Amino acid sequence: MSTRTNIHKAVFPVAGLGTRFLPATKAQPKEMLPVVDKPLIQYAVEEAYAAGIRHMVFVTGRNKRAIEDHFDTAYELESELEANGKHELLELVRSLSPQDMDCSFVRQPRSLGLGHAVLCAQPIVGDEPFAVLLADDLMTGADGRPGVLTQMVEVFAQVQSSVLAVQEVPLEHVRRYGIVAGDAAGERLVKVSAMVEKPAPENAPSRLGVAGRYILTPTVFDRIRNQPRGSGGEIQLTDGIAQLIATEGVHAYRYEGKRYDCGSKEGFLEATVEFALKHAEVGADFRAYLRQLKLD
Ligand code: UTP
Repeated sequence: MSTRTNIHKAVFPVAGLGTRFLPATKAQPKEMLPVVDKPLIQYAVEEAYAAGIRHMVFVTGRNKRAIEDHFDTAYELESELEANGKHELLELVRSLSPQDMDCSFVRQPRSLGLGHAVLCAQPIVGDEPFAVLLADDLMTGADGRPGVLTQMVEVFAQVQSSVLAVQEVPLEHVRRYGIVAGDAAGERLVKVSAMVEKPAPENAPSRLGVAGRYILTPTVFDRIRNQPRGSGGEIQLTDGIAQLIATEGVHAYRYEGKRYDCGSKEGFLEATVEFALKHAEVGADFRAYLRQLKLD
């Protein structure tokens, strides 16, 4: 797959309260929690960069500093590493912000919901299609295959309408997701005809749950702005996207790969164990350590 893209900007909403991870998220965004040695937000930025996107737009909240600092130049750290001849670490630190990558930051003054957070990015995104990545969903492509957003950029080039990443979820979990229904439009594609936020199992139109990757047309901004508050009193992204179904069409794409729900403790721990096992530096020792644990 090519990494050249007509999607130039990626929006990262990072202004949620992260209540499921308190107290760790009291003074820092949950997207700065590290899986092994990289914060969640960095995995998501790398996924967007690999998909050919070069302008990253962060919608930050009260605890914004850590994310801005993470993608900013750290002069003191860099000169210290240079003076001590720690060239590999220096390269590592510098690689976080490649020269051809731009970062913008906008503030969401209050946590009014994901739809509202995306709307805050409109002045920077403008009138072009854009990606949205929720960094607490840590996504990996199938082994050796392109990342999930790369796959979606390719799908967008074909369908030229908004694309949502979806996966089949267990019936008892549908109330954790936006659920879509529709007709097959290809091997992994569904033309969406309905979308419901967090339905009860008996009301779910299918088991296709939306994961935290979207490519959206800019029309969604007006839809979000003009919609009433939705589930939980929040301004929901799902409601804005649902309004595109009848006008422009929306596609759901069953991605190839795996999702770790790092907004929950269980998902975060699963990601930590699996990424640690694959880690070049600690993987082998960690595997040996797990083997000798007496689990009953
Ligand atoms: P979540 O639904 O996971 O909410 O948001 P949360 O507040 O971050 O976490 P919990 O449920 O309290 O533990 C999904 C994504 O939307 C962002 C979050 O940062 C997260 O990436 N978000 C949510 C915002 O940026 N602003 C909001 O008002 C709400």
